[in-house]
Amino acid sequence: MKYPYQIQNLDQYYSDYQKSIENPDEFWGSIAEHFEWHETWNSVVHSDFLTAKTIWFEGAKLNITENCLDRHLEERGNQPAIVFEPNDPNKPSQTLTYQELYDRVAEFSTVLTNIGIQKSDRVCIYMGMIPELAIAVLACARIGAIHSVIFGGFSAQSIADRVIDAQASCIITCDGAYRGNKEIPLKPVVDQALKLCDTVSEVVVFKHTGTTVNMTKGRDLWWHEQVNEIIEVGIPWEEPERVDAEDPLFILYTSGSTGKPKGVVHSTAGYMVWANYTFVNVFQYQPKQVHFCTADIGWITGHTYILYGPLSAGATTLMFEGIPTWPDAGRFWDICQKHSVDILYTAPTAIRSLMVFGDEPLKNKDLRHLKVLGTVGEPINEEAWHWYDDKVGKNNAPIVDTWWQTETGGIMISNLAGITPSKPSFATLPLPGIFPVLMDENGKILEGNSVSGNLCIAKPWPGMIRTTFGDHQRCIDTYFSAYKGYYFTGDGCLRDEDGLYRITGRVDDVLNVSGHRIGTAEVENAINMNPLVVESAVVGFSHDIKGQGIYAYVILNKEIADEEMASNLRIQILRTVSEVIGPIAKPDKIQFVTGLPKTRSGKIMRRILRKIAEGELNSLGDTSTLLDPSVVESIKLSRM
Ligand code: WT7
Repeated sequence: MKYPYQIQNLDQYYSDYQKSIENPDEFWGSIAEHFEWHETWNSVVHSDFLTAKTIWFEGAKLNITENCLDRHLEERGNQPAIVFEPNDPNKPSQTLTYQELYDRVAEFSTVLTNIGIQKSDRVCIYMGMIPELAIAVLACARIGAIHSVIFGGFSAQSIADRVIDAQASCIITCDGAYRGNKEIPLKPVVDQALKLCDTVSEVVVFKHTGTTVNMTKGRDLWWHEQVNEIIEVGIPWEEPERVDAEDPLFILYTSGSTGKPKGVVHSTAGYMVWANYTFVNVFQYQPKQVHFCTADIGWITGHTYILYGPLSAGATTLMFEGIPTWPDAGRFWDICQKHSVDILYTAPTAIRSLMVFGDEPLKNKDLRHLKVLGTVGEPINEEAWHWYDDKVGKNNAPIVDTWWQTETGGIMISNLAGITPSKPSFATLPLPGIFPVLMDENGKILEGNSVSGNLCIAKPWPGMIRTTFGDHQRCIDTYFSAYKGYYFTGDGCLRDEDGLYRITGRVDDVLNVSGHRIGTAEVENAINMNPLVVESAVVGFSHDIKGQGIYAYVILNKEIADEEMASNLRIQILRTVSEVIGPIAKPDKIQFVTGLPKTRSGKIMRRILRKIAEGELNSLGDTSTLLDPSVVESIKLSRM
């Protein structure tokens, strides 16, 4: 497969960028011609940021899985589509060629139709990182059902929240998953979740770990039995559904600064073109290369750069079930060597956690195949950037620092590997089609270089969020209201003297813990569910490995007698957070306080709490507007 729209040099980057901004219809229209459509579009893009309504490729009909599977069969049916590396390095890896993946997706999509799933139905998927997760996702897309993948680390309550919000009728799960030396139960968590919601009528269970699970009659179905039935009865495979360009492809829940996670909705055609275009250009993918993205498919990175981007480009994508530090900190490097990985795409937090082990785990690992390195999810500090460059890339593999969000569908600001310049800890330049704007607090555009402000996007791009599921107003309020006529990212950003962009982190109450996005309000709500808690306030603080850690200030309804009691209470609160959200949201530090710094109108002054959490006790700024400035002194004294 050739990619005629793959940018070949710096001049072409500038000229393509120019074209994309001056004439987006022509630019994206000619790229879209390289995909398979059942009907072509009447117009390329219509957009109104005030009402958050954007339509790409209006009138076109397609099925994204035909673009990811069927169209590759003739030329590369025998090429690996998915290489699966299991958690246990002593177990064999597994390869699904394009033909095999096609067969299994077509087969499983027939299972889904057979059990009554129809176009536009919502299907939640709660599985480990195994090939069947990819098959489940693609099978949904093949019949036009809307998938909503839920990260395997989320609690029963979190699953129930998502099922209810999406009004899902089916859940696809597995008995359990492996994670390092642990076996994680999944089906039992689904069972618990389904006690809290009542829209789900079918649960399809894939047998992976082989542990015993309860199967509820009339609701729970074994994956393998359903597939066998298709084969035995000889039920013909379902034809791919021809969906409209703007039909939703998936929902993915993500945290914001207020309320419960919102369901970010992505469309089919625009998302496909954006996933493919950004994959091919940022990583400069060449046919037959092996692409290893270490993210979980429970997050947007996995959706776009394990599945839809690579598969639509006919690439070989590597899926890994385990963790970077088990059985030892050389796991990534063993995988890169074993599968001759060409492109490695991971998160700063993973790099920092491996740096701690020094050079030893890299010794005698053959990484000569690595051509491109990528990072995503949080700002990468210069030390980690250089370690990645020196020790992993041997200064011979460009690093792409890719900035984007769940809402943007794909990479927005990044250098293009080997084509545009890189600069440590800078995402550098916008992709074609992306028009970044920096704003000050009052909505004034900051022109020129050497400025920093809030990052907004001025023009529509194919992969942008279309709505928040079931609540379009929330989409308008969250992304299109802070600056009228612009998409607001929630990130702070600097444009340096050369016009290169550096993302400085969130400017709202959203934390980024090990690349996981967590709302402070969400953690507070969870903590407050503990019956002993009166009130809490959560802030982020700098953490060497996680990027940000979670610091919670908690007011209890009883007095703490001694340190033993305090530590028991902390354990209880951590348990509550695990139950309500999941272990990823557990605070690193819990400080019991008797009051919180509030303004006279009752608003918590998080700025002060952030400073205390960082240990910057002498630069708290103005505290005179507080209702009771003395609480600050007492918080300072009992700081963790
Ligand atoms: C937030 C989005 C995009 C996939 C993974 C996270 C931060 C993301 C970078 C980067 C600095 C980054 C931003 C953004 N972020 N990439 N290269 N440099 N910060 O997706 O969970 O939607 O989180 O992650 O703060 O807003 P997400």
